[in-house]
Parts: sequence; structure tokens; C-alpha cells
Amino acid sequence: MGDNMSILSVRGRGSFDFEVGKNLLSILKKNGIMIENPCAGKGYCGKCKVQILEGLNDDNLQEHRKFLSEEEIKKGIRLSCLYVPKNDISIELIDNEEKVKILDKGYLPDFKIDPLVKKECKKLSYDSLATSSDIEAILKSEKRALPIDIIRKLSDLEEGDIYTLVKYDKEIICIEDGDTTGSLYGFAVDIGTTTIVASLIDLNTGVELDNASSINPQKNYGLDVLSRINYACKEENGTYELSKSVIDCLNGLFEELCINNNISTENIYDITIAANTTMLHLLLGVNPKSLGVNPYRPIFKEGRTYLSEDLDLKISNKTRVYCLPSVSAFIGADITAGAIVSKLNTTKERVLFIDIGTNGEMILSDNGKMIACSCAAGPALEGMNITCGVRAGVGAIEGITIENDSVSIEVIGDKYPNGICGSGILEAISELNRRNLVNKSGRIKKKEDLEDDFLKSIIIEDGKKRSVVLVDDIIITQNDIRQVQLAKGAILSGIISLSNHLNLTAKDIDKVIIAGQFGAHLKVESLVGIGMLPKEFEDKVNYIGNSSKSGAVLCLLDKSKREEVKDVLDNCGYLELSLLDNYEGLFAKCLSFDINKLL
Ligand code: FES
Repeated sequence: MGDNMSILSVRGRGSFDFEVGKNLLSILKKNGIMIENPCAGKGYCGKCKVQILEGLNDDNLQEHRKFLSEEEIKKGIRLSCLYVPKNDISIELIDNEEKVKILDKGYLPDFKIDPLVKKECKKLSYDSLATSSDIEAILKSEKRALPIDIIRKLSDLEEGDIYTLVKYDKEIICIEDGDTTGSLYGFAVDIGTTTIVASLIDLNTGVELDNASSINPQKNYGLDVLSRINYACKEENGTYELSKSVIDCLNGLFEELCINNNISTENIYDITIAANTTMLHLLLGVNPKSLGVNPYRPIFKEGRTYLSEDLDLKISNKTRVYCLPSVSAFIGADITAGAIVSKLNTTKERVLFIDIGTNGEMILSDNGKMIACSCAAGPALEGMNITCGVRAGVGAIEGITIENDSVSIEVIGDKYPNGICGSGILEAISELNRRNLVNKSGRIKKKEDLEDDFLKSIIIEDGKKRSVVLVDDIIITQNDIRQVQLAKGAILSGIISLSNHLNLTAKDIDKVIIAGQFGAHLKVESLVGIGMLPKEFEDKVNYIGNSSKSGAVLCLLDKSKREEVKDVLDNCGYLELSLLDNYEGLFAKCLSFDINKLL
């Protein structure tokens, strides 16, 4: 071994040579060991902890101290992205996987069951042979050669044999022995930045038989899409690694669904996938670099059908995979899927569709005339960048009421609270606003400016810094409120810009649809309470859950929906907020808790 090489031993995972000079996180990744690293190794998320058992050699302890307690430091816990081993080292991985609630359900409008893939059972006779000749004639006229395996299969059949033709969009994709018409299945998939959900669907009955979900394994390369785009661009084989991680995850989910439901992968004929534009690029192994730089252009937007083997999916090689279209770099197929679920393209009303997350994506439809925009809401609404913020898992505070001289909390899983998740933060700040603990600009009031003794008692003053105690050591700081104001300012200014574009006011909008994993947990009272939504929307809000997956289900079961989603792509305009006159002024006004007369 060269002078510059040392050995890393990972308890339970084996030993690996490494070149001295690289950080521990990159050495682990290179050897296929993935640990959580939401900031993609930039040293500001504090999540990539490992325990160093032997060979500890500190020289930048101060950097680690920003994220680690003294107790952790003493135990040898360090952030792997900041730790550069200089000699042989032995470590143990820390199980820091979060248990996040994954939303797998969504509203489905009425539709007809008319999938693109169909089966026809036949008996080989003179007539059916004539039919097969007809099919050959059709394929010839369409300049498609009948695949040789199908011709071979036909040649093996005897007079009187029962067989089943499987057709995809009228094209024969295989011939099966006997009557297999009862076994016709597909998967509808939503690939979110954080989570992946797959549903197993019976294409004969339209019934969703089962679903399976997983945290998106790409989060090991960065929590948000930009971190992943950076990884894909900067690391050798970065795009391939990200693509492989999501394909491996899909293969696992598909296998789980087939085994649990006693269905052969050979009977999966069609898969539909909705995802944001970056996730789709990475799924297909397409370098997403153009999505990360101005003018933020996708390499492709159209919906396309692929063969499963093109994507390295371990499923029947006759399975087709249809990816829904995206409108732009920021309005992806997850949103076009939501648009058809919400019937934005055919509505006779004025409907606002919002998917609230790290990015807020929205489409306003005025009787089918659609305009979309996207705004950077930031991670605060998902519990990130918040002093006591956690993701929405067991132990997270998700509801808060300040009433009758007490702060009441609702905790996910009814456990002792370990932090506050996005919906909890929104509700807390809405309550602070309702109880006049903050002024309209969002500043926490001084104790001396309050009359109520209980409200005074929950304010902590530390010089000019003020915060509010919710329970024990879980607090809301001034900075937390600012983070939420930035998020709500981004979303409200998006709503106002779209409305202005179509010459509408809040009163003119008939329906507001909130979609998505995160939006499903936000209460209307909180959204209106912090001024993210205007008061006029209070009775107009509908939640439709995971509309990305629902859109994929629609496209799987009703082939006409693939035309509709194309219609959304062709007819939905995109408004770039940063290019609007005086957008910054509007955004600044939207930060206030007093938003009367803005829309
Ligand atoms: S601090 Fe190491 S990955 Fe974020």
C-alpha cells in the first residue's frame, strides 16, 4: 500500500483502503456506504454523524462543536463531512434515519377505466390465424416490424391452442399461453424529492391493490434538488449514482409489492411516473446541470414512454414506463399530474392549485386558461432551519393552541415532544399572531408591552433577543418567525402575481386546492392566521393529498388522461416572478402579518 493510503474499518460493514486527504463522508460514499447528508457535505446541516472508535485525530474540533454536544464530542462522534482521517481509523455508523410520515393517498376524480394496455384471449383456428395476418399487415403499414419473439411464439402454437394477445396502444407487445386476461397490472409512482410512493393497480378493475413507500435514497446526496444537481455536476459519475439510487429503490418497492400480493413481475405491463423535473432527469440518468443555472432549462419536458430495460428496472422486459410531462424546470410532472387531478384544464371555475413545500408551485386556472409560477419557500415549512425544528415524524409537535393560560400541544405518535415540525411551526406562529404576542412586522413583543401575565411568562428576553417557550426547552425564536415569514411571503406573492396576471382578486377565486405531502398537514386556520393565504380563501380550501401519485394513477388507468396532461403542457403559461416589475416590493409587503388589501 502506498504511503498515502490508510484503512477505514466500518463496524459491521467491512474495511476499505482510502487515500489520505479526503473527508470521511466522501470515503464512505465511494465505498457504497450511504449516511444521511442533507447539505451534501457542506458542513451546515449537522446530520452526517459517525462515531470514531479508534484513530481519532482532531484538528478542527471547533467546527464540529457547532453541531455536537460535549457528550457527543467525548464519545468520539464527529461530522463525517468535516472529518479528514490521517491514519487508519475504525468507526461505527449512527442510525440517524428519521421516521417520516409518508403520504401515499390522494383524491381521485371520476374517470373511466380504459388503460393503454389491454389483453385479448383467442383460440388458434383458421380465423385467428387470419387475424394474426391482419396484425402483421397493420404493423407493416405502421413501419413497425413484428418482434421476432412474437413471430416465434406464434409459430409454436397449435390449432385449438388458447393464447392471449397483450397490446399496448394497439401494438402487440407479447403473446401469452392460455387465458391470462385476469392478470393485468401496473404501477403508478410518485418520486418526490423526499419520498417515493408506488401503487400496485389492477388494470382490469381499477382497484389499488397495495402501495409501498420509501424515503428517497437520493437524500444521502443532498436534501434539496439543488444539492443533488450540484452533486450530479461536480462528482464523477454523479448523475449515474443518483439515477442508480432511485432505480434501486424502485426495484425494491416493485419487488415488495409483487411478492406481498403474489403477482408475477411478468404480469406488470405498464408503469406511470410523476415527479418533479429534476427527479425525472435523474431517474432517466440525464445530467440535470441545465436545471441549476439561469435560464433553468430542462433537457426534456414532454411525456415519453420507455422500455423498462432502458431504465434498468428489474421487471418484465415488455413493461412500458410512461413519464408524465413537465411545464418547466420548476413546474414538473408532479404538478401537471396535480393539474389533471384538479381538472384545471377543463374547469368552468377559477381554481388555484398550490403544492406547498420547499418550493411552492402553483397554477391558477381561469376557466381552463392556466398560468403557473414557482417560488422558493425555503425549508422552514418542513421544519428545517428552525431552532427546534424537526421533520414530521414521531415526537414532533404538529399542533399548538395558546388558550386559558396554557400552551396545549399535539404530538405525532402521542410521544414526548422532541421538536416542532412545519405544520406545528405555522400553527404556533399563527397563535402568536392571534394572541398579539408579535406585531404586524413579525417582531416578538417585549414583556412590558403585554398586559396578560401568562403571555408575559412565556416570553424569554435575553438582551434585545426575544423568544417564546412552547413547552420545556422547545422555543420559537425571532429568527424562526423570520424564516416562516420568508416562506409565507414567497407563496403569497406568487398567488398575488398569478391573480394579477389574470386580472383576478381573492374574491374572484372559486376554489383553492392544496396538494402534496406537506400541504396536507397545514390547517386552513394557520395558513390564514399567518397571512400566507388571504382571508377570502378561508372557506374555499380543499386538500387533495398526494396528487402527483393520483395523476400517475389516472394516466395508468385512463389513456385519455395522457392527452389531457399533454394539454396542460401545451397550454399552461409560466410566470417568472423575479422578472416581474416591482416583484421585490410585493414580496416585502407579503412578509407582513397584515395582508389586508394586498389581493
Ligand atoms: S454537515 Fe455533514 S453533510 Fe451536512
